Amino acid sequence: MLVAGNWKMNTDVPEGRALADAIAEDLSSASSDLGNVDVLVCPSHVHLPAVLDALADTPVTVGAQDMHAEDEGAYTGDVSAPMLTSIGCDAVILGHSERRKYYDETDAEVNAKVKQARAHGLVPIVCVGETLEQRKAGEADTVVQNQVDGALSGVSIDGPDDLVVAYEPIWAIGTGESAEPEQAQEMHAVIRDDLAGRYGGDVADEVPLLYGGSMKPHNAYGLLSQPDIDGGLIGSASLAAESFLGIAEKAVEVLAASED
Ligand code: PGA
Repeated sequence: MLVAGNWKMNTDVPEGRALADAIAEDLSSASSDLGNVDVLVCPSHVHLPAVLDALADTPVTVGAQDMHAEDEGAYTGDVSAPMLTSIGCDAVILGHSERRKYYDETDAEVNAKVKQARAHGLVPIVCVGETLEQRKAGEADTVVQNQVDGALSGVSIDGPDDLVVAYEPIWAIGTGESAEPEQAQEMHAVIRDDLAGRYGGDVADEVPLLYGGSMKPHNAYGLLSQPDIDGGLIGSASLAAESFLGIAEKAVEVLAASED
């Protein structure tokens, strides 16, 4: 199970440092045991050194929210994979719907970034998801499959630690209206099938498939209990240690219940 926070463009650096310190402090208390739940936070690039420092003695790993597909060059304002790995980042969110919407990122660009992340040992967290109009038109499965296929074309993975896919229905992001657990499960099964066709069932079964879109402590248990939902990509609820770790606790409970 993986609980990942996407801070987006929120908090200044002292506030982000304080948030990471609060996460570290909560995790250091005796009652906090994450068990087999992995926790990752993805702040903005500017925050990364401070957040990496704050979380250095915790099990929490740190990722970025985007990066360029080239190693270096004249790309004003961009950040490269070698820059991220050189400071200790483990993962990078790619193809988030906000990047697709506001920066016109195409599947081909996402694909190039996924290859670049793989080449540098960063775990790509590939985001896919349909709009409300596409869902109403009965196109959701096709849209999501095309995004998965586009992002992963020619991408080889050796095992489940090399890739994360996040299903984030656009109509659920930042709206407070999450998908119903069964609705999310249906799409996760579609994605799992797609991955099985590409990488074989054994690998596909173990690639973490995250749900994202208004996941909160109160709805996390139902979502995370679904058989093909292996964690969450959390936006607004990741901006407070209490709600973020509250979701991680739900993941711990789901795992405990599945072991009974
Ligand atoms: P949200 O964002 O939890 O605020 O809906 C999720 C995301 O965009 O990753």
